[in-house]
Amino acid sequence: MKGRRVLVTGGFGFLGSRLVPALLEAGAEVRAVSRRPREAPGVEVAVADLTRPDDCERAVRGIEDVFHLAAFGWGLGENQKQAAQLLTQNVLLNTHLLEAARKAGVERYLYTSSSSVYPGSAELLDESLPWDAPPHGSESTFGWAKRLGEIQARAYRDQYGMKIAVVRPSNPYGPGDDFDPSRAHVIPSLIAKVAARTSPLVVWGTGQAVRSFVYADDVVLGMRLAMERAADADPINLASPETTRIADLVRTILEAEGCADLPVRFDPTKPEGHPRKVPSTAKAEAKIGFRAATPLREGLARTVRWYREHVLRS
Ligand SMILES: NC(=O)c1ccc[n+]([C@@H]2O[C@H](COP(=O)([O-])OP(=O)(O)OC[C@H]3O[C@@H](n4cnc5c(N)ncnc54)[C@H](OP(=O)(O)O)[C@@H]3O)[C@@H](O)[C@H]2O)c1
Repeated sequence: MKGRRVLVTGGFGFLGSRLVPALLEAGAEVRAVSRRPREAPGVEVAVADLTRPDDCERAVRGIEDVFHLAAFGWGLGENQKQAAQLLTQNVLLNTHLLEAARKAGVERYLYTSSSSVYPGSAELLDESLPWDAPPHGSESTFGWAKRLGEIQARAYRDQYGMKIAVVRPSNPYGPGDDFDPSRAHVIPSLIAKVAARTSPLVVWGTGQAVRSFVYADDVVLGMRLAMERAADADPINLASPETTRIADLVRTILEAEGCADLPVRFDPTKPEGHPRKVPSTAKAEAKIGFRAATPLREGLARTVRWYREHVLRS
């Protein structure tokens, strides 16, 4: 990365704000995209709406590597209500950015897909799972939008020989996550409720759903490795090999917050998404040498600390 001119879209979002400092530290010259003016030391900020082709062309000018993280979306509930916007905005920004990168002769490109592309049925989500079933109903439109981006990556590799890495982060969490109650995923949402000592702590679903959660800085490392070692449009899961039931996750967060005796009530009338969402980590280990290193307990403790210092104190 040393001396390379790198564009990060979504550079001020959750994962982007962890990736940008890592790239700067590695010696890259970083330009980060946002739809509004931002301040970031050592970073060139490009104000751009990536659903507009002209903005995409401006953003990629002079760039060697693109980390494309920008995506349009909210939490599960809102995504279902605004399905048309979700599909159109994501298809537009993925399409215009990739085409602008091709025209500008960008050398390497990373497309951030997601484990939302997977159908709901399999025990272990292997990258080669056939696409003869739709994405799980709870994430259907977003899953289709991400799938289209993956197909686009393959098509640009085949027709133009572009070097494109495709990664599927699965349930990332960590410092800098979105704690807004209308958008927050399960971990930030639970951390905020527990910090407020909401009693009883009501958790959606049965508590029996199984997940693997991956720490954000591990995802960032996986993205960098994928760009360097697997820019061949062949998707790679960025997931943790550690799995947990939601009930155990709740217990660990209560312990990290120092209130293990807070009463908890699971509400099985509310949706809980896939009953089991556990991506295989074998391909990431074999192909790019990636293994998520942060144990869930440690990552949660760091995230709780960050929340107290940056959100509660502000
Ligand atoms: N977080 C997860 O749970 C998760 C899981 C799997 C995959 N992923 C994928 O990983 C990537 C990063 O996720 P994240 O959680 O960091 O997302 P995030 O915090 O929501 O950040 C995404 C960023 O995209 C930018 N964006 C949206 N529409 C745009 C537009 N029209 N033009 C320019 N920028 C636009 C926004 O930047 P501004 O607001 O600054 O304009 C936003 O901050 C996404 O592709 C996401 O789908 C995330």
